[in-house]
Amino acid sequence: MKAMHMATSSISYFTTAFVLLLALEYLGLDQLVIGSTTSCARNRCRPVRANDTDLIQFALNLEYLETELFLNAALGRGLDYINPNLTLGGPPPIGAQKANLDPLVRSIIEEFGYQEVGHVRAIITRLGGFPRPQLDLSRENFARLMDAAVGYPLNPPFNIYASSINFLLGSYCIPHVGLNGYVGTIPNLTRPDNRRLVASLMGVEAGQDAVIRALLYKFAFLKVYPYELTVADFTNHISWLRNELGRCGNKDEGIIVPETLGAENRTWSNVLSADWESLTYARTQPEILRIVYATGNESWPGGFFPRGANGNIAMRFLKNNIIADQNNLQEATKH
Ligand SMILES: *[C@@H]1O[C@H](CO)[C@@H](O)[C@H](O)[C@H]1NC(C)=O
Ligand SMILES: *[C@@H]1O[C@H](CO)[C@@H](O)[C@H](O)[C@H]1NC(C)=O
Ligand SMILES: *[C@@H]1O[C@H](CO)[C@@H](O)[C@H](O)[C@H]1NC(C)=O
Ligand SMILES: *[C@@H]1O[C@H](CO)[C@@H](O)[C@H](O)[C@H]1NC(C)=O
Ligand SMILES: *[C@@H]1O[C@H](CO)[C@@H](O)[C@H](O)[C@H]1NC(C)=O
Repeated sequence: MKAMHMATSSISYFTTAFVLLLALEYLGLDQLVIGSTTSCARNRCRPVRANDTDLIQFALNLEYLETELFLNAALGRGLDYINPNLTLGGPPPIGAQKANLDPLVRSIIEEFGYQEVGHVRAIITRLGGFPRPQLDLSRENFARLMDAAVGYPLNPPFNIYASSINFLLGSYCIPHVGLNGYVGTIPNLTRPDNRRLVASLMGVEAGQDAVIRALLYKFAFLKVYPYELTVADFTNHISWLRNELGRCGNKDEGIIVPETLGAENRTWSNVLSADWESLTYARTQPEILRIVYATGNESWPGGFFPRGANGNIAMRFLKNNIIADQNNLQEATKH
């Protein structure tokens, strides 16, 4: 019953998103940005109150996601092979696999994968951790996200593991959101050593994001085989989807933009995505959950985390969800 309700809501969400997308494309990208910014409800975009441990452990969710995606794509095996201790007993990811990467991209992604192992270890040894959450890295999951991003079912379905470009486009979804989350977290940390840890994690996430975007930029105007869309089109669609799901305005831009979104209003190249002062956008934990769940709702798991993210902050929202369900049930049984 519950599952059916979710399935229909999810379809209607994406139908709405599709109609919106058509409207926004008709209006042009500049209108999109203005529209999303003004629709931002302030309380939805406020950071959560939590102690340093909870704030930093929250990031483990994304670090696990990146670890498994990169290691498996490059090596065909993940954390269970490299260092099973660091999974803290969490289940292996669904659908992770080796990607068909050229030697350059493969070596870069392998390095990124090991860097993420370091990040997981750095957080766990300093602040403790929680079991790796259930992750869905299946090509079907990425295909659904791409369909939602472009606004119609791609034919054939997008396969993130089919080529270097596809993998970079699929990965383009991820370090950027982690980076925004770290920028959002730092002001709310109380201890200097914790701020330093997060700044150091952020530096490497920013580097990964930059490398992925620069590799894509080189091919910005090429069509992504076998679709009619270029690499730049894909990045703009994915960034649009992330902004829609985050529900707090424009914090994400593709690699080619109108000049009003470029650095100092002077470039249409957008190798790095940043605000009007070229400062990195910040996202709160609920915004990140709304994006990685792909539901636009921090209390409604899905996307990369079919059973929800782990740790006190994510659990708070899942618990709200359960309480809301109980209230609904009580309401329903009254009548
Ligand atoms: C977190 O930091 C931001 C930016 O300094 C501030 O606006 C916000 O009130 C802080 N939130 C909490 C819960 O401390
Ligand atoms: C941080 O908050 C959580 C509750 O969300 C609590 O269980 C934990 O003990 C706190 N940790 C520290 C170091 O204060
Ligand atoms: C995993 O933990 C075991 C037991 O504590 C330890 O012997 C082993 O060296 C650890 N492995 C790694 C890769 O850290
Ligand atoms: C860029 O243009 C926008 C209006 O499109 C304006 O608000 C902003 O101040 C401009 N930024 C710079 C750095 O000139
Ligand atoms: C978010 O999802 C929960 C659980 O499905 C639901 O109770 C709540 O109404 C949703 N919130 C919004 C804003 O859609």
